Amino acid sequence: MTFRTLQGADLSGKTALVRVDFNVPMENGVVQDDTRLRSALPTIDLLTKAGAKVVLLAHFDRPKGKRVPEMSLKPVVAPLAALAKRDIAWSDDCIGAEAKAVIDRLKPGGVALFENLRYHSGEEMNDPAFAAELAKLGDVYVNDAFSAAHRAHASTEGLAKLLPAYPGLSMERELTALDAALGKPERPVIGIVGGSKVSTKLDLLKNLVTRLDKLAIGGGMANTFLYAMGHDVGASYCEKDLAETAREIIRLAGKNNCKLFLPLDIVVAEQMASGVPTRVRGLGEVDEHERILDAGPESVARLKRAIGNSRTLIWNGPLGVFEIPPFQRATMEAAWHAAELCRDGKLIAVAGGGDTVSALNMAGVTVDFTFVSTAGGAFLEWMEGKELPGVEALKV
Ligand code: 3PG
Repeated sequence: MTFRTLQGADLSGKTALVRVDFNVPMENGVVQDDTRLRSALPTIDLLTKAGAKVVLLAHFDRPKGKRVPEMSLKPVVAPLAALAKRDIAWSDDCIGAEAKAVIDRLKPGGVALFENLRYHSGEEMNDPAFAAELAKLGDVYVNDAFSAAHRAHASTEGLAKLLPAYPGLSMERELTALDAALGKPERPVIGIVGGSKVSTKLDLLKNLVTRLDKLAIGGGMANTFLYAMGHDVGASYCEKDLAETAREIIRLAGKNNCKLFLPLDIVVAEQMASGVPTRVRGLGEVDEHERILDAGPESVARLKRAIGNSRTLIWNGPLGVFEIPPFQRATMEAAWHAAELCRDGKLIAVAGGGDTVSALNMAGVTVDFTFVSTAGGAFLEWMEGKELPGVEALKV
């Protein structure tokens, strides 16, 4: 992959159009989690220090080409200004006369945030005319929004073709980390894929079994595999119609020398509720009223050994219903073990996806992992081996 790089670029006096992802959790106009705002700060800092005018372009939610007041980006201005410790100018529109006037008033080193790109239907349609309206406003384009890079929209794809295009520093960091996990990883590489549904992760599983040395499958989706192997899963969540697909994935793993780790033992309960009585069962010992809600201690011990024998871990999806105690145990133990190996410099661990980030936060290990991606759809599509239009468009 070859990309331009911002370090050393001549940016003085230029206007940089910077695509960021400020699609943050918001309640009643108050930002609930500022991770995505913070991740834009290094690029803003670099550009302002280089003397550029910085125009932040972003989407929020899905207004579908209309001005929906609840989907304004304006509530982001104050928390961003506080984090960046600087004034942030605002434009009520991301194109046209007002946008241009805001840029004209900015001094070199000044920063502005523009209103939601998706108020214009041209954004999601990747309309060349809309991309040209955006391009008119700047001299260079910077994409710092990996988490929106799976979208081929005007601000993530079209615009990159109209101006000299650079990855931002967060984008660069994310691409480097992902490449270390799946592009050119240190082997052996182990994957953990969990979550409830096989159906949403078919492409992911099929790609991973051809690229990894080992793959552990957990969470509700493991039930579908156990069922496909002939084990009774009682009242557990299970996509029985995908049994043949699960067998196909098992065969594909065998063909590609990817060792699959499915649960050896499981934690069951009659209800999925906090503090209910639980039992550890062997495979095939599940009663008809019981539900499998976590991996059992033997499975966890074996998984920890397998992680310990690996150099790289890539993780998406929890191993059990970690939101409800005590079904967090397998996920927490695997997370703590991986974190310890990372701290000792023995493991490169990359994780991503909404639930995985919450689980790692719960385990208190996010800082120990080599990289934790807050991207949802983009992280999944990258793990599926798909090209991300927003990344492709930055290549030179
Ligand atoms: C995200 O939050 O995952 C990105 O901002 C993409 O948002 P979208 O799914 O609405 O395109």
